[in-house]
Amino acid sequence: MHGTDELTEPFEIGGVRIANRVLLAPLAGIGNWFVRLQAKRHGAGLAVSEMVSSFGLHHRNERTLRELMRIHPDEHPVSVQLFGHDAEVMRSGAAIAAEAGADLIDINMGCPVRKVRRTGAGAELLGDPELALALVRAAAEGSGLPVTAKLRSGLRPGDRSGFELALRLVEEGGAAAIAFHPRAATVGHGGSPDYALTRELVERVDVPVIVSGGLKSAEAARRAHRESGADAVMIARGALGNPWVFEELTGRRAAPPRRDEVAGELLWVIDRAEEHLGAERAGRYLRKFYPWYMEPLDAPPAVADELQRSADLPRARALVRGLAGPGPSL
Ligand SMILES: Cc1cc2nc3c(=O)[nH]c(=O)nc-3n(C[C@H](O)[C@H](O)[C@H](O)COP(=O)(O)O)c2cc1C
Repeated sequence: MHGTDELTEPFEIGGVRIANRVLLAPLAGIGNWFVRLQAKRHGAGLAVSEMVSSFGLHHRNERTLRELMRIHPDEHPVSVQLFGHDAEVMRSGAAIAAEAGADLIDINMGCPVRKVRRTGAGAELLGDPELALALVRAAAEGSGLPVTAKLRSGLRPGDRSGFELALRLVEEGGAAAIAFHPRAATVGHGGSPDYALTRELVERVDVPVIVSGGLKSAEAARRAHRESGADAVMIARGALGNPWVFEELTGRRAAPPRRDEVAGELLWVIDRAEEHLGAERAGRYLRKFYPWYMEPLDAPPAVADELQRSADLPRARALVRGLAGPGPSL
């Protein structure tokens, strides 16, 4: 069942064909349609949305629908990640995500943030397997789509509740794949991910296992893939400002991008943000994105600072063009 040593080989999640085994991880506040589209343009087989509140969808919150549920036609297949703690709300939220064009639904069972855990969602679900199972079943019934779950290995170091829950979600809940971040919720991003535990999970379930955690470079991702035996890898922080990691891992590129390519990419991001949010909101939203691109652009601190403070898109574009260096003009 588990496949191949090649990240370039296609695979399936619940009958949905994924062109290769290099995926963009869900990233809250970041993984909107154009960030996912960027990953796809550079070769990702699948991009997962930022986490979306099942309650926001259920109540048809306008901004949730207009912004978080926006899906570009070139993104497919796309997975929408939902979070929540109520099966009926999850059923209706998943139905709305399916209507909006999701091909897969993922349920967040790994978020360690207090605000989320306090509601009973995210990693808190590791301590309530019956509710976790009910959420997966309800999402599948509501959406008619394959449902996956993304979870941590446990709540605290040494706790394997996430591992045990993953087995049950597949066997009893019909989960179509598991995205596994083999770190305890309480350690956040600290410590090394446990790829040996991931391998144990791969051996125990007959659906794809996708490994997440610590994949900061193409080399780290290859190593995690090898050590875990997972069917696919999911890149999170390693993709911020570096969509070329998908090209490297899918064999489309060996050399790092040139400065003019990086500048061109950032200009693309600025354009898409404006298209998504309008100039004023985009100007503020983009401040999160700029720092990721400053190192590959070799930006002098004064330019990086000005960009960071600038909410004016024409000025931001001019600064980025100025960083492109020699190469085709932008
Ligand atoms: C800014 C940020 C936002 C994240 N948002 C989500 C999210 O919405 N849903 C989720 O399941 N995981 C989320 N994660 C976790 C990542 O998907 C991933 O599992 C984790 O960062 C480990 O991978 P990495 O070490 O390659 O970054 C987030 C991580 C970061 C850094």
